[in-house]
Amino acid sequence: MRIMLDFGGMMADAVGHRQGLTVKQINAMSGPFKAVHQDLQQRRRNGDLPFYQLPYDQGALERVSKKARRVINECKDFVVLGIGGSALGAIALFQAFAHPQHNLLPGTKRKGLPRIFFADNIDPEGFSALLNLVDLEKTVFNVISKSGGTAETMSQFLIVRDRLMRKLGKRGHRAHIIATTDPQHGHLRTIAREQGYETLSIPPGVGGRFSVLSSVGLLPAAVAGIDIAELLAGARSADRACKKANLWKNPAAMNAVLQVLVYTTKKKPISVMMAYSDTLGDVADWYRQLWAESLGKRLNVNGRVVHVGPTPVKALGVTDQHSQLQLYIEGPFDKVITFLTVGRFRKTVRIPTGFNHIDGVSYLGGHTLNDLMQAEEQATEFALTQARRIHTAIRLPEINPFTVGQLLFMLEVQTLYAAGLLEINPLDQPGVEAGKGLTYSMLGRKGFEERARMVSSKHQGISSYRIMS
Ligand code: PA5
Repeated sequence: MRIMLDFGGMMADAVGHRQGLTVKQINAMSGPFKAVHQDLQQRRRNGDLPFYQLPYDQGALERVSKKARRVINECKDFVVLGIGGSALGAIALFQAFAHPQHNLLPGTKRKGLPRIFFADNIDPEGFSALLNLVDLEKTVFNVISKSGGTAETMSQFLIVRDRLMRKLGKRGHRAHIIATTDPQHGHLRTIAREQGYETLSIPPGVGGRFSVLSSVGLLPAAVAGIDIAELLAGARSADRACKKANLWKNPAAMNAVLQVLVYTTKKKPISVMMAYSDTLGDVADWYRQLWAESLGKRLNVNGRVVHVGPTPVKALGVTDQHSQLQLYIEGPFDKVITFLTVGRFRKTVRIPTGFNHIDGVSYLGGHTLNDLMQAEEQATEFALTQARRIHTAIRLPEINPFTVGQLLFMLEVQTLYAAGLLEINPLDQPGVEAGKGLTYSMLGRKGFEERARMVSSKHQGISSYRIMS
């Protein structure tokens, strides 16, 4: 069961030469594609891109499955503490596969699985509400931080640990924390060693936004009852397609070429991903971070200032047809839309007949919500084409761990190709690090004092432009 890239809506014969691409233009990218492809394959062979190997890591699969069994047997609630790449992948998987109302179901209907929460923000109200909701004695907290020093995650950890210690004591609290972090480095690793916490490792060289198929995404997924072996099998299947040296047979490379071409030659700075499925909505959220943090860069690989990067936007079909679509169809010609579509939903819901005397309502009876969803998605594609708006689609025959494994892996590889074509490094995030450094300085972390002075003087400048209501 394979997913498909359907890019007819990107082509000039559909939307005209001004907006669309020609086969000739795509073929002209063969040279750059080949160079990027060879570079990626070489770096992969050298072990410089270890995320490529995650779908083949049987050891990690077994370790994660064992821990997940323990968690499922022993706890009622499972809370992930993490942010950015350390949370979004697991959230996307949970949303794709858990029962849509998982946490509201009674235990018996959850098949013995714990409730699962993701604390990926530090809003004091949200976080305290969550901690008041869970029963600490029956909760496992999965602290996930690749660097082991992110202020948000480590603050959450300190708060949780304090509460656990007060309730369960120094010895008792240990079983309630699993740390997922670098195998050797970072403060979280040091703390886990000191305190004797259970740990899982994120392979060195796998950055947060490329870590969904490592223990970062896999443990929460396994605790949610998701078939993680199938997820990895799907990723391996995508790997076979995404390492082909023929651009026309490699969906990750082709989508990267299309996105880069319309960004650089058709003035499309905005790249929307619109999922026609509630359960794939958070895949679009995960992708938004992957695309933004990997491609939004000031410098290119030669150190030249380029300020490059398409702006990713998340949208949800059909909901956003009543919010965003007007802009997409009639607003500026500055967007490319990527649809995520589903061939067969896991449920079919019939719309009953009724009100035969009212034509504007009775036509719905006898159809299904599935028909309606599909018709609306197709109508949106058609309307965009008519309005000469470029769009492409990634079509999943159905939502299952195998197809979603393919999708996630393909989008990761696509990001690497796009970065190669834009000549930037997708694996760093100097902007995010600078922001982290400023936060540390404002909270008095040693070694960051100089930045604190910078921040306070900047704030003064801003404060002189305020108006009270
Ligand atoms: O993708 C990334 O690298 C980032 O979004 C990180 O995941 C995020 O900043 C959290 O970092 P860490 O996992 O080190 O706590």
